[in-house]
Amino acid sequence: MPSKASPATEASAKPARPARVLSGIQPTGRFHWGNYFGAIRQYIELQADTSSAVPLQADREAFYFIADLHALTTVRDPERLRGLVHAAAVDLVALGLDPNRATLFVQSDVPEVAELMWLLMSVAPMGLLERCHAYKDKKLRGLPADAGLFTYPVLMSADILAYDATIVPVGEDQVQHIEVCRDLAGTFNHLYGEVFTLPQARLVESGARVPGIDGQKMSKSYENTLDVFEDLSAQKKKIMRITTDSRPMEEPKDPADDHLFALHALVASEPDRQEMAELYRRGGFGYGHVKKALVEAAAHFFAEARNRRAALEADPGCIEVILANGAVRARKQAAEVLARARQACGLARGTSAGRRS
Ligand code: TYM
Repeated sequence: MPSKASPATEASAKPARPARVLSGIQPTGRFHWGNYFGAIRQYIELQADTSSAVPLQADREAFYFIADLHALTTVRDPERLRGLVHAAAVDLVALGLDPNRATLFVQSDVPEVAELMWLLMSVAPMGLLERCHAYKDKKLRGLPADAGLFTYPVLMSADILAYDATIVPVGEDQVQHIEVCRDLAGTFNHLYGEVFTLPQARLVESGARVPGIDGQKMSKSYENTLDVFEDLSAQKKKIMRITTDSRPMEEPKDPADDHLFALHALVASEPDRQEMAELYRRGGFGYGHVKKALVEAAAHFFAEARNRRAALEADPGCIEVILANGAVRARKQAAEVLARARQACGLARGTSAGRRS
């Protein structure tokens, strides 16, 4: 699938190293279609190749984590947060993330990342963070923001740099943060030598900015989501209420202009998608027809994942084992990078690699 060009997608990392894919996702509610088509589908596509005898050591390694430290800025109920983290892991595995081909872990199980964040905070200009949209949007809406939200892109940079990630599959809204990561890594490297690997964002054309049911970007904060594992009758009601324009039925319409078409295109088979595009161009149809097709295609698209999820839910221990194993692998990697960074900036004394045991 094509990656979309942006400043953060152009430069490449050092050659002759296996590609290291990394991404994170917040457990702030159930995953929506934006999360799936923008990011999770890429995670699955980019897992290590199973044809290798040792899948996790293949020419591509993948690390995916549940960003619970990030979620702390919005989820304040500890039991709810623990539940959301577990549910996020269940959902990711149900959607096809394979713990034998990728390392799945929880962000806070790797405390090295928090220390690395401090090293990066020391080189992070205030002005750069003030321009970041998560904080800027909240301020514009007159909402109080805490320091966690303000420094969020620095934690995200530490998340990426701690694993020497080269490829970061995300939706369009995260590209700015990956640019910040590259900036901070570049400044640190300039001051202290080649410590960090510069990552590239990876976007997919078809899912970089999934629209919500109101046509804006799909987002929990806009309350315009279709959720991956939503109750089907609730989802049907939502779909049937999707706002459409009031052009007469006979009038031909441009499919590229319509969020209902865009949502259908995500879950429909290729022939169904093409047939719908023709119908739009021909005119003479009602939006109710498209909505019904969308309800059916959505139920069909996620049916297998729903079944897998039901099986996984019945075995909560298995998910916790996957996360515990993932944490061990992730920590080993992050500890190596942190030791390198501590040594480079003068925190480590003596000849050791710089990491306390
Ligand atoms: P989060 O949890 O908001 O979203 C997870 C992923 O879903 C993508 N996404 C979308 N893609 C297309 N269209 C949409 N409407 C849409 N909505 C969400 C996001 O781009 C993201 O890829 N800061 C990150 C989590 C994070 C992270 C990281 C990501 C923390 N550390 C390190 C990559 C690398 C976030 O809040 O994503």
